[in-house]
Amino acid sequence: MPYYRQVGDIPPKRHTQFRRPDGSLYTEELMGEEGFSFDSALLYHINPPTALTAIEPVETEVQELEGNHPLKPRHFRTHSLKPGGDPILGRHLMLANDDVRLSYVAAGQSSPLYKNAVGDEVAFIESGSGTLETSFGALEFEQGDYVVIPASTIHRWVIDEDVEDAFRAFVVESRGHIGPPRRYLSRNGQFLEHAPYCERELQGPREPLLAEGTDVEVLVRSRSGVTSFRYANHPFDVVGWDGCLYPYTFSIHDFEPITGRVHQPPPVHQTFEAPNVVICSFVPRLFDYHPDSIPAPYSHANVDSDEVLFYVDGNFMSRKGSGIEAGSISLHPGGHTHGPQPGSVEASIGAQGTEETAVMVDTFRPLDLGPGARDSEDDKYSWSWLEGR
Ligand SMILES: [Fe+2]
Repeated sequence: MPYYRQVGDIPPKRHTQFRRPDGSLYTEELMGEEGFSFDSALLYHINPPTALTAIEPVETEVQELEGNHPLKPRHFRTHSLKPGGDPILGRHLMLANDDVRLSYVAAGQSSPLYKNAVGDEVAFIESGSGTLETSFGALEFEQGDYVVIPASTIHRWVIDEDVEDAFRAFVVESRGHIGPPRRYLSRNGQFLEHAPYCERELQGPREPLLAEGTDVEVLVRSRSGVTSFRYANHPFDVVGWDGCLYPYTFSIHDFEPITGRVHQPPPVHQTFEAPNVVICSFVPRLFDYHPDSIPAPYSHANVDSDEVLFYVDGNFMSRKGSGIEAGSISLHPGGHTHGPQPGSVEASIGAQGTEETAVMVDTFRPLDLGPGARDSEDDKYSWSWLEGR
């Protein structure tokens, strides 16, 4: 996170005595990235956050990966996947490599307490609403939000169950840290004027949660699997914190598109970056305004990346006739040249704008297919550029 935030009560000077009303000390916790050399937060707990009463392995279903072989552009219909479970354990693993795991979840219940110790997560909320409860406080979320959760943040997804739209999310789990593109930040981390969003649109926790409880289970994901930690006291006993590391939300509807006289390349849509991964937002926007411009994209060979698009809303103009629908995920791998479906280029000329919303994830190393991909694949997609030529 690029900027400083303070919530609740903290002492005026770090690492000094900070006492509870009964005279005993609060326990200070430094949560810091990259070995005390990157963003961090100082949290003040009522009870020590270190006391565990039990540690047990948790058996989870192994979600096997297969290589994209033979190499094919692919289309997955996520809405055909079995709904159910919670926003963490109900995830269908779609695509993954050593840098990132991409999942889809249509959950019917709130999650247990959880900590991803492998890396940061960002969940894009396709539909539904609720609250992400964390050690830093609560974050409300709704359709269109990116919910960014730093590695090792203890959290719980509480979903609204009495609403018409079910909880659906596309989840990006990085093996590193996710943040705004470096080129949009000043040397000191402030968003620059050419950035498509800025600090005002990032929503962080506003007040402590202060949950009480003893013997509280938290599921911890590490590279070896999932472990059950039982904490002697509730980890949401934080009375205050400050720093530049905390969970936040950003709505795709607040992303200001960058447009031009001729077609703008995908990097103008970039919203976040992570090691060997970029996340981009395609939002409703005016089309190119050169008198001879072609709004549809050109065919492109993305030599060094696999390109994943999650289609959220709109008529998906460049994918006409391809079977793409809301909730679709397309995979256009490196080694395959792709572009608009036949007829889309001519049809785009003269169009004034698009109402499409989509999230793109480009990975710089090839993606393997998970069980969610195998269970939802539309076999005809590879040949969709033949239709209507
Ligand atoms: Fe593309």
